[in-house]
Amino acid sequence: MAKNELLEKGVNRIEWAKTHMKVLGKIRERMVKEKVFEGLKVGMALHTEAKTAVLALTIQEAGAEVRLTSCNPLSTDDSVALALNEKYGLETYAKKGQSNKDYYNSLNKVLDIKPDYVIDDGADLIFLLHTKRKELLGKVKGANEETTTGIMRLRAMAQEGALKFPVMSVNDAYMKYLFDNRYGTGQSTMDGIMTATNLVLAGKNFVVAGYGWCGRGIAMRAKGMGADVTVCEVDAIRAIEAKLDGFAVMPMREAARHADMIVSATGCKDIVTAEDIKVMRDGCVLANSGHFDNEISKAALEKLSKKHRKVREMVEEYQLKNGRKVYLLADGRLVNLAAGQGHPVEIMDMSFAIQALCLEYLDFSAQTLEPDVYDVPDHLDDMVARIKLETMGIRIDRLSKGQQNYVRSWREGT
Ligand code: NAI
Repeated sequence: MAKNELLEKGVNRIEWAKTHMKVLGKIRERMVKEKVFEGLKVGMALHTEAKTAVLALTIQEAGAEVRLTSCNPLSTDDSVALALNEKYGLETYAKKGQSNKDYYNSLNKVLDIKPDYVIDDGADLIFLLHTKRKELLGKVKGANEETTTGIMRLRAMAQEGALKFPVMSVNDAYMKYLFDNRYGTGQSTMDGIMTATNLVLAGKNFVVAGYGWCGRGIAMRAKGMGADVTVCEVDAIRAIEAKLDGFAVMPMREAARHADMIVSATGCKDIVTAEDIKVMRDGCVLANSGHFDNEISKAALEKLSKKHRKVREMVEEYQLKNGRKVYLLADGRLVNLAAGQGHPVEIMDMSFAIQALCLEYLDFSAQTLEPDVYDVPDHLDDMVARIKLETMGIRIDRLSKGQQNYVRSWREGT
């Protein structure tokens, strides 16, 4: 595509997202008017596509100098990255299909701004700050982390005393994970799989590994599209929940035998291994929606295969030595972002409203917070929920005075 066409596409995508991100829009009005981020430098590593652009531009318009790159080598929308650089004056280093080396070069360029705050997704940027870019640690006052995997890494750092500044656990806000991880990942994972394969979901034996917030959403949407869903878990309570939600539950080794499609969303590694691949049926499709590309073993696929080749955009066919073929989508990286369009706009609207408010909260309170991982304050969750309801035109009841007294008292009973 010619550069001017790509630029126009990027601008249109950003404007489309902006139009439909009404919650962040309301918050932006105030933030821009009050220039709440005046004089700050903010480094961001988030999936570089249209919704992220709207968040980055909000922070920029509210007074900050912002640099952005992606948190995944395959999730960038190049049209958006171009538009940010050329039309909106926001330095962006992301490029779809970056090598590992270029990915880290881009993270380093973001840090070269000497940020006051960083916004991360998966904690690669924060990890870099604590290892090869330690000289910047004194300048950074705090960070926001977007996803489950990043929070897992950061909590481990905090526990070892290795974390050097406060981090807001954006992922753990209700207005983030209840909707983003569940409905966002649910819908966009189907979008990624269908775009990559053009195969029908109805009637398929569809296996979901992990019945957390993402896995629940994926299982729910696959069932809704007529697939026969099996769940694999290591957590006994979540396994029971999956069973009572109407899904078959069994270990991966058994599930792999009859699977037509397997999707991992655990945040753990080695979910689909050589032993599972050996028992798979011919034609099985493998995809991952967890943060890193270590859930499906690519090393095992290579080892068990005679050869492999690209058969469609984002589909790699592995011809196994046992004569069967299996297909890996999006190189085992987040299928919803690499092969699909990522989470729906209105879902990211809520997540990024929390992001913007957390940055403001951090700037207000970072000096008083010890290095640790912090929950998002309830009043920010509530604020985003109320603005969301308002934008949806939905009104809800309020507790009467009598009800307020009743729920706080212990005297009224049988
Ligand atoms: P979660 O913690 O709610 O759920 C993970 C589930 O996987 C848990 O129930 C856990 O017991 C299970 N699990 C862990 N190891 C397992 C194993 N070896 N075998 C089977 N099950 C196992 O986490 P959540 O929020 O669902 O996130 C999962 C992953 O998805 C994380 O890596 C997260 O960063 C990522 N994520 C991806 C998004 C996307 O756009 N694709 C959006 C949000 C999160």
